[in-house]
Amino acid sequence: MKPLSKASQQGLHGTLAVPGDKSISHRALMIGSISQGATHIHHFLAGQDCLSTLKAFQDLGVEIERQQDEVIVHGKGMMHLRPASIPLDMGNSGTTTRLMMGLLAGTSFTSTLIGDQSLSKRPMKRVSEPLSELGVQVKLTEKGTLPAQVVGGTVHGKTVKLQVASAQVKSALILAALAADQPTTIIEKLPTRNHTEIMLRQFGAEIETATNQRTITVQPHPDLVGQDVQVPGDMSSAAFFMVAATIIPNSEITLKNVSLNPTRTGILRTMLKMGADIRVVEHETTGEPFGDLHVKTSKLHPIEIAETEIPALIDELPLVALSAATASGISKITGAAELRVKETDRIQAVSNELRKFGVQVEELPDGMIIQGQPDWKVQDSHLDSYGDHRIGMMDVIAALKAEQSMILENEAAISVSYPDFFTDLQHLM
Ligand code: S3P
Repeated sequence: MKPLSKASQQGLHGTLAVPGDKSISHRALMIGSISQGATHIHHFLAGQDCLSTLKAFQDLGVEIERQQDEVIVHGKGMMHLRPASIPLDMGNSGTTTRLMMGLLAGTSFTSTLIGDQSLSKRPMKRVSEPLSELGVQVKLTEKGTLPAQVVGGTVHGKTVKLQVASAQVKSALILAALAADQPTTIIEKLPTRNHTEIMLRQFGAEIETATNQRTITVQPHPDLVGQDVQVPGDMSSAAFFMVAATIIPNSEITLKNVSLNPTRTGILRTMLKMGADIRVVEHETTGEPFGDLHVKTSKLHPIEIAETEIPALIDELPLVALSAATASGISKITGAAELRVKETDRIQAVSNELRKFGVQVEELPDGMIIQGQPDWKVQDSHLDSYGDHRIGMMDVIAALKAEQSMILENEAAISVSYPDFFTDLQHLM
């Protein structure tokens, strides 16, 4: 149980480099592991989720060295992965699980994947079904959950149309397609984060994205060669401080080297639409775009968010709801049913938590209606992360604005994506 205090009259100040991007850190480990030669990963996110990926590849026989946020993966190519002697433990990580299902299809052996209590409830058929269209066998429980057995060895390239807008599912298919007998085309429901495509191209793969941004063609059996990967700061982590500095009076902060990949900057576009004072300074790069964010306190307007905007801010929707809760008027989020199958049911969790601050929230099957108000009246000072890192961090930021001290249950979940969250917040206080 963690005591949380409100922000001082002076607000938040200072400069922060947030930890490396979670999605890119996972992919660098995976793609490095199936490439030939050393991959150096700089500013790697050493959160629990990415450490689950790292351990899984060590269990598959890959030599990986790590010193804090510097990682060296000594890849020897896909064919040198060997069967793990124990089930591969995915921990809490949906990204590890779903991407590994696709990647392991290209091996010559069967692997067993297990996960923690929360992960073992999350839907996996969304990956096994499209993979089966490529001839890949993934056995799940009757409910379509972990434990899973992935039978490696057969991948038939063809065209697959995806039913859910999910970068994890798309990436699983791309990774499987690398080992296919012919090219594979994946058609997404909506464009989602494209880190897998960008990174695979850097390592030597031939992947074409059509101008509609949702049709991806993968040529099989590329010669992947180890690379240097500079991981930008995670927009999903930066967003907590971006929102904090916006809603806490008298704040002015700078967030350095944050990912500006347009498939991830939905939160930035939304905050700007709501009237936030954020100046973006983009840096020159040939790879993943990144830059600095200068954020000052500002009054926010209500907002409406619809389905097409969801993929680019899927992980930041709790923060959109929190920002909307401070804006006078009604905000509405729809088309976000995916939130119900995240680490926890995030529609229910966000609604519960915001109500504790006296904010009126109506749950919709696929979103929320939020009656925002600049001044809150705490109803219940007991906050809960429900074991979900992003809900825990949203609670901490909301507590900065409350008129009294709050406490947070299950704060340990935060280490899944941001182990130094409290230290970094303290740095700005
Ligand atoms: C991720 C994709 C998203 C996101 C998750 C990370 C990824 O999940 O919510 O935190 O790295 O590909 P979905 O693919 O389920 O939308």
